[in-house]
Amino acid sequence: MSDKFIYIKSYGCQMNVYDSDRMKDLFVNKGYALTDDISKANLTILNTCHIREKAVEKVYSDIGRVRKLKNNQKDMKLVVAGCVAQAEGNEIKKRAPTVDFVVGPQSYHKLPDMIDNLDEQLNSDFLQNEKFKNLIYNSSKLSSEFISIQEGCDKFCSFCVVPYTRGPEFSRPVDDIIMETKKYVSSGIKEIILLGQNVNAYHGINTNGKTRDLAYLIEKISEIDEVKRIRYMTSHPIDMTDSLINTHSSNSKLMPFLHLPIQSGSNRILKKMNRKHTVDDYLKIVEKIRNVRPDIAMSSDFIVGFPDETDEDFENTMKFIEKVNFVIAYSFIYSPRPGTPAQYKDNVEVAEKKARLSALQSLLTQQQVSYNKSFLNKKMDVLFEKKGRHENQFIGRTIYNQSTFINSKDKILNKILEVKITNSTNFALECQI
Ligand code: SAH
Ligand code: SF4
Ligand code: F3S
Repeated sequence: MSDKFIYIKSYGCQMNVYDSDRMKDLFVNKGYALTDDISKANLTILNTCHIREKAVEKVYSDIGRVRKLKNNQKDMKLVVAGCVAQAEGNEIKKRAPTVDFVVGPQSYHKLPDMIDNLDEQLNSDFLQNEKFKNLIYNSSKLSSEFISIQEGCDKFCSFCVVPYTRGPEFSRPVDDIIMETKKYVSSGIKEIILLGQNVNAYHGINTNGKTRDLAYLIEKISEIDEVKRIRYMTSHPIDMTDSLINTHSSNSKLMPFLHLPIQSGSNRILKKMNRKHTVDDYLKIVEKIRNVRPDIAMSSDFIVGFPDETDEDFENTMKFIEKVNFVIAYSFIYSPRPGTPAQYKDNVEVAEKKARLSALQSLLTQQQVSYNKSFLNKKMDVLFEKKGRHENQFIGRTIYNQSTFINSKDKILNKILEVKITNSTNFALECQI
């Protein structure tokens, strides 16, 4: 039994979830046990997100809560990791002296040493290469694992902090990713989700030093027998190459789902956002991919209330959504971020932003609901990934990434089964074997 406990809370995107797992592995390797009871923790890590102001506020209020706990747990160390740590490390140390260590997303492999030696309290170096070589990769899941294959961003959209918090684009070598995949499948994993802030900008080297793209990497991973499903996210439209599009038709393990953020359906706003493509460019990608894979499920991200966004710009976004028909999408009110060029001209009224967000979300929900309804009484393959909240209830995902619930007394966990869809709720499906 371990007498040291670590508690980790992850905010933000899946790449943070992946990083949290790696931090957990580093400390489990040093004799810690994971706990979900913070009052037992000797080490608490908040793995933070800087993408919108609200995400950051949440971190500071959680730090306040941990500070109170620390009064009773004198030996507890508090670490702030992730994108807030990177963006405002010094400020955290000043504003919240209760924080013992601050470590950015590209240097967290150093955390165990920092804690042992107590000589360094803040590290925000971009050490992508060194980091991946020093991490530990143990699967903690049953069916589906994330693998970060690409990190950082060179695109500099005018609203976004990621190029500053995650650093320049970096791609891991092909062999490293294959090794990590093999490790996970040896413990039963069936689905691999390749992650990157710009995952389709992937350009890692293979054994003989040649640069390879995401399409190549997907082919290589699909050659591993035990891998049954492959997904990737998040993609940028300008890196959506023909070879990647065609892989959606040629590779049966690559799931027919594409998360491709556009942010706005107005060319004027796209230009101000520095997205480097037009609405038409996006529609052409959709057309191409539907040509080779007609059932592809499209997903996206939208920002409403960007500085200067007019009614007409917003109407264009609504028209664009109607044209594409998304199966799911995420939408946010523009949040001005420190250090990004867009923040100075935020001039859309708050009430207007809220009204636009709600109109946009109701259109997207409508599309999602009718998409899910279209599967009623149809047969689909579902990978059952975890237990549900109720007894004999399990949750899985279809090839189109829809959550699917089932009641069953059979042993169905980590199996891909053909089921019949019996009901569709707003955001999920129900099925029977
Ligand atoms: N790399 C991805 C997205 C990363 S951030 C891409 O290129 O699309 C995830 C989403 O958060 C973005 O797609 C965007 O919709 C949203 N987002 C990023 N910065 C934001 C900001 N300042 N305000 C509101 N939403 C933002
Ligand atoms: Fe941010 Fe744009 Fe890079 Fe995506 S592509 S991470 S939105 S700067
Ligand atoms: Fe947030 Fe950093 Fe991810 S800012 S969305 S945790 S890359």
